Amino acid sequence: MSRIVLATPDAAFAARVDAALDAPDGQVSRAPERVLMMDAARAVDTLTAEWEAPPEVVAVGPGLPDDVALRLAGALDERVPETVVVLVAEPSPEIFERALRAGVRDVVAPDADDAALRAAVEKAAEAAERRRSARPEPDGSGPAGRIIVVVSPKGGSGKTTVATNLAVDLAGREGDTVLVDLDVQFGDASSALQLLPEHTLTDAVAAREPDATSLKVLLSKHDASGLYVLAAPHDPVEGEQIPAERAATAIELLAKEFRYVVVDTSAGLAEHTLAALEVASDLVLICSMDVPSVQGFRKTITALDQIGMTSQARHVVLNRADARVGLETSDIERTVGVAIDVELPSSRSIPLSVNQGVPVVLQDPRAPVAAALRTLGDRFASAPAEREGGGLFGRRRRKR
Ligand SMILES: Nc1ncnc2c1ncn2[C@@H]1O[C@H](COP(=O)(O)OP(=O)(O)OP(=O)(O)O)[C@@H](O)[C@H]1O
Ligand SMILES: [Mg+2]
Repeated sequence: MSRIVLATPDAAFAARVDAALDAPDGQVSRAPERVLMMDAARAVDTLTAEWEAPPEVVAVGPGLPDDVALRLAGALDERVPETVVVLVAEPSPEIFERALRAGVRDVVAPDADDAALRAAVEKAAEAAERRRSARPEPDGSGPAGRIIVVVSPKGGSGKTTVATNLAVDLAGREGDTVLVDLDVQFGDASSALQLLPEHTLTDAVAAREPDATSLKVLLSKHDASGLYVLAAPHDPVEGEQIPAERAATAIELLAKEFRYVVVDTSAGLAEHTLAALEVASDLVLICSMDVPSVQGFRKTITALDQIGMTSQARHVVLNRADARVGLETSDIERTVGVAIDVELPSSRSIPLSVNQGVPVVLQDPRAPVAAALRTLGDRFASAPAEREGGGLFGRRRRKR
């Protein structure tokens, strides 16, 4: 069975890919040319009838008009969800946007060198592999835990604050929680928890065939809450080298072992964030109280819808919800077109707690902002948080 199908009339390009991949016989094949100019849905039906099983990757183009290539990509995405589609076309912001909308995972230039072609196909094949393994198995062997990814279009909007407090809250209530710091360049979750991690994500993606047991050895423990943490790499250069697909695989493996995997991210929809979103069950979206953030937030929601990230449950958090900046919650809801689930007030307790490395739900559990953060935890936990007197954490801390 062919793992990679080239949907291109360009024989020279196909030969070049064949040589670049140097794959065993039969692994790379070409879609018959007559199929390529058919109506997209019919083309896909014809192809699937010929395939024994869906290939891992279909590369569409070059040599097809953009519209034809994108329609074919869209039809493949819709009808053969196991297969990952790569578009081979001259990259431009416009083509990227249209490609994303059509469900294409990557755009590669037709004149990309052999290494770039190989890398694009390998990345797509890894994504296909994850897509297959992420699908729930009938015997229930798929990921058991919830994967909660915290996302925001803008830097400094409170992702790390929310991710660390949510993770600590869930760990305190339910145990069995791990926080993954996927802000690969500037992750600061460890510092917000006063941890000095020995191992990081760099170690977690090093193994070609990682397993949950070897990953668990790389986690740091936050003793005050029982939370486990997979820390971000030590420096930005190291961070840049983390393959997004492998980070997502690590997250999935952790979800087999932990009930909750909370993922902190960098601003926007970076490559690593998108890879995590593909395996996520829940999305915590953070908006802050200013016009650029609200606009960015609206674009983020639109982009997520366009790229088909619609299966995750969405939880919308408005941070610094009480800031007097001439915006009302209702204005924001109207602008972004979604309801706000949790409002976090501004609080001096937050920077104080960050500076001391103790999350506010532990440090100042009576603060209104800590109560609001526990309301977010309520959306995931089965056990309610104790409200007055600091609850679980208050008790724990007094014991010390
Ligand atoms: N509700 C709040 N009240 C007061 N300060 C807050 C609040 N939320 C966040 N902050 C402060 O804002 C700053 C940015 O927060 P945080 O680090 O959580 O944002 P981030 O989205 O993770 O940023 P980055 O994009 O840099 O990772 C921190 O100094 C934090 O203490
Ligand atoms: Mg952060």
